[in-house]
Amino acid sequence: MIALACDHTGLELKEEIKKLLDSLGLEYRDFGTDSHASCDYAVYGYRAAKAVVDGLCDRAILICGTGVGIGIAASKVKGTRVCTCSDVYTAELSKRHNNSNVLTMGARVVGVDLAKMIAEHWLTATFEGGRHQRRIDQIAAIERGEAL
Ligand code: RB5
Repeated sequence: MIALACDHTGLELKEEIKKLLDSLGLEYRDFGTDSHASCDYAVYGYRAAKAVVDGLCDRAILICGTGVGIGIAASKVKGTRVCTCSDVYTAELSKRHNNSNVLTMGARVVGVDLAKMIAEHWLTATFEGGRHQRRIDQIAAIERGEAL
């Protein structure tokens, strides 16, 4: 189950991402917004990120104007590993090496086709584990307030 969320800048791109998820046979849950009225990205980013760390969803795709604000908001939810992407290579490696569980993109930055390509690479990549798991464990330790 993929959590989706956006602010008012990301509505159209979110709908395009839904079409991609349909074509990949992946289920999703939309955490809003569902209106073009100006809204606060933190609210929707938080709700989708929380669904991921609570186990209701496996991962999240979040969209705002740049992908940055909603990404910062989601990254404040403990347990997220957020990747803000505008290229396919970073998106794929963020899964293979960092096991990112939240992808954010900027609707004002990337075109629809590129955004869908980024999302597809991210969704289909596999975490490689091994030395990368050790590094993720270190990130989790930082999150718990431990010194490295
Ligand atoms: C909204 O104007 C814009 O600030 C927001 O979508 C996002 O880009 C913030 O990071």
